[in-house]
Amino acid sequence: MTTLHAEREVITGLLDRAADALRSKFRTALRFETKDAAGRDAVTEADLASERILVAGLHESFPEDAILSEESAAPTASAARTWIVDPLDGTNNFRQGIPLFCISAALWQDARPVLGAIRSVLDDELFLAERGQGASLANQPTRVGPAADIASIRASCDSGVSDEQRARAGRAFARLAPRVRGIRVIGSAALSLAYVACGRFDAYWNAAMLHPWDVAAGVLLVSEAGGRVSRVDGSEVGLEPGTVVASNGRVHDDLLAAIQESRS
Ligand code: IPD
Ligand code: CA
Ligand code: CA
Repeated sequence: MTTLHAEREVITGLLDRAADALRSKFRTALRFETKDAAGRDAVTEADLASERILVAGLHESFPEDAILSEESAAPTASAARTWIVDPLDGTNNFRQGIPLFCISAALWQDARPVLGAIRSVLDDELFLAERGQGASLANQPTRVGPAADIASIRASCDSGVSDEQRARAGRAFARLAPRVRGIRVIGSAALSLAYVACGRFDAYWNAAMLHPWDVAAGVLLVSEAGGRVSRVDGSEVGLEPGTVVASNGRVHDDLLAAIQESRS
């Protein structure tokens, strides 16, 4: 029994519209600005167009709720419920014409996620989870994969943005790459988490740093699909920036141990 029917309806409709906006700008000449001196992190007109649709639509439907969206950063109000939005996760892929990117939106209430939606754009997949109701892909229940040990996992990880983050991520990669079945860096944290939730990956980690909008929906998807999500030190993932490790649950402790060894 869903308890957030209206919220689901609204967010899936808005994700469809935002996906149309992104699709229309994919592989076109994009206006963009870089966010850091090294030019590794950027915001494009596509991020902003998607964000406008999502933020305006959520505000119109749920005027009491706060909204935290990546490109406008500060929540629009303080409220018991906050929508957390990444209007385009995988901006660098998008800019390079690589078709791996998604939109992520979640509703958090009393500091925990209650609804999460991740919409991949070009292959039209919708991942949804509601607290206590399980996770779905294209309206069908979905579960994490069955891998029983680190040696059989197919994993995804991220490289980080700053030099220091990349060095940390590199040490974790070096520690794990020789021990797992497969490893990918696909350039979208949210899509990686969605793929853990449906068993395409058995695990995902970012040993450097992610923002709340990168993970707000994915943490609920993975846990509702039967998996586990934590910080590298095993603590709960909240809305402050930090590391993230997600897995099917069975390999989680071994994964944490390996990443922790890479940091000592
Ligand atoms: C980025 C992606 C990437 C991760 C970065 C994020 P963006 O999000 O999720 O996989 O490594 O840390 O910032 O900028 O494309 O929304
Ligand atoms: Ca992101
Ligand atoms: Ca983004």
